[in-house]
Amino acid sequence: MEIIRDPYQFQAHCAALDGSLALGFVPTMGALHAGHISLVRASRRVDEVTAVSIFVNPTQFGPNEDFDRYPRQLETDCGVLEKEGVQVVFAPSAEDMYAKGDTTRVEVEGLGERLCGASRPGHFRGVATIVFKLFQLGAPTRAYFGQKDAAQVAVIRRMIQDLFLPVELVVCPIVRERDGLALSSRNAYLSPEERYSARVISRSLRIMGEHFDDGERSAAALLLKGTEIIESEPGLKLDYLTVVDGDTLQPLSTVGPGSLIAIAAFAGATRLIDNARVDHDGVYLL
Ligand code: PAJ
Repeated sequence: MEIIRDPYQFQAHCAALDGSLALGFVPTMGALHAGHISLVRASRRVDEVTAVSIFVNPTQFGPNEDFDRYPRQLETDCGVLEKEGVQVVFAPSAEDMYAKGDTTRVEVEGLGERLCGASRPGHFRGVATIVFKLFQLGAPTRAYFGQKDAAQVAVIRRMIQDLFLPVELVVCPIVRERDGLALSSRNAYLSPEERYSARVISRSLRIMGEHFDDGERSAAALLLKGTEIIESEPGLKLDYLTVVDGDTLQPLSTVGPGSLIAIAAFAGATRLIDNARVDHDGVYLL
């Protein structure tokens, strides 16, 4: 497994691969867990070469967010990736990804300001910018993203389409703990009490799904139910709970196929997100 730090070296390495081989690319911020590994395995199943980037991207964090304390464990992560058969790890420095004088940003208008983009202004500009840079360097055949960050998927899908990027987006299901909590690098911040409260986030989605199964199609009615459940758990503070179109992230009043139920809530100081997709048959937490 090659571990490459320098962007130009990563670019040259990917460009030198046999053009007939598919390159799968998994962008991450490290502190790898089974969610990340599911993306790596999805690539390993179909791509001849799998590259993973590990980069805690400063431009997607707000001034008072957790950039400084975000978990960094490059050596452990590389050990895990080596066992998974990953051929290339790209772990650049912030100084190299945002060289002196860097001012270019990728803005996905509209979508970028919804959901987490509303609570975290500039977040999706940072995400789109770094993902664009990474795509430019690696020029992957396929790029793997998790449904866990559904708004991120919508933003990246829009960017790929709008900028004619020659990459296939592969979206992988949400990997969860046994009690339903979506895996996240930020779960490591949770105290045992906060961890216990956090289980109610996915539970609220599941119960909203049951109401959908019972025939409820009003977004307002479902959201009321979901909000009640979150508010019944004193250890949680709701940031948003909303029903939107899964592609445009526009709010919907009626829930149906293509809808996304998205939630963000604080357990203590830790902000956690989750979502469920709606199709013809029901509400899916994956
Ligand atoms: P990060 O939070 O490290 O996540 C990297 C990828 O893993 C994302 O596509 C995310 O959706 C996916 N992922 C995280 N938790 C998951 C889970 N429980 N199940 C399935 N997939 C999961 O998302 C980012 O990093 C950054 O914004 C990035 C795209 C790397 C740009 O900086």
